[in-house]
Amino acid sequence: MRKFSQHPITLLLPFIVGLLFVACQPQASTQQAPTQSQTALPTASAPVAYVDRPLSASPAQLPPLPYNPGALSKAIDAETMRIHHDRHHQSYVTNLNNALKDQPNLQNLSVEAMLRDLNAVPENIRNTIRNNAGGHLNHTIFWQIMSPNGGGQPTGAIAQAINQSFGSFENFRKQFNEAGGERFGSGWVWLVRNPQGQLQIVSTANQDNPIMEGNYPIMGNDVWEHAYYLRYQNRRADYLNNWWNVVNWNEINRRFQAASQQQTGG
Ligand SMILES: [Fe+2]
Repeated sequence: MRKFSQHPITLLLPFIVGLLFVACQPQASTQQAPTQSQTALPTASAPVAYVDRPLSASPAQLPPLPYNPGALSKAIDAETMRIHHDRHHQSYVTNLNNALKDQPNLQNLSVEAMLRDLNAVPENIRNTIRNNAGGHLNHTIFWQIMSPNGGGQPTGAIAQAINQSFGSFENFRKQFNEAGGERFGSGWVWLVRNPQGQLQIVSTANQDNPIMEGNYPIMGNDVWEHAYYLRYQNRRADYLNNWWNVVNWNEINRRFQAASQQQTGG
């Protein structure tokens, strides 16, 4: 019988103990420990403004209109588009950048991440961020989901999903317009995909975005008076009806697909 001291494992013991000692030592790191606000806020979020990337706030920038201001005249006149984009949207961008000027931890977050976790934003700038990050996000989506070549019946997967959820496109459009008409004061009407994967029509006040309630905004219409007053004056219902002439179903299908993939982890 071989003695224990002669067993090959005993020869390796000092080496194994040495390896264990090294492995248990604290590792040197070049990374700085995260600050409290960095750990409190999510640093990554599913993109919403664009389906393939989050909306940057470092600094926020006014995106160009993807068409000429007069190109949507089937629903919206050129002067309204110019004022809406160049002045209103620009002011949300400017105000957001001003609010973030002394907030280096927030500057590294996307607009979506800030809106999803507003409680983690310092209280003295929370409402400013809510209104202006929301305004920047909402309008960035809005310009994309309209097109001079838009309108007509929905196409692709969203057409089928609308029929399944609302019975028909006509029913959906009627309910969407009603929700937009009933929004008291200023706000938005949206088609969202909720966390349960269902399509739902919701309306939000002021510049709130559905991601603040965990919903993915697939399409939305701006029912602030600045969106329609020059041509339609107080006739919001006429604006809501005409707006369907410029709805960009191709982009809405892209957003619907992105919402489905995000919520199924795809
Ligand atoms: Fe607006």
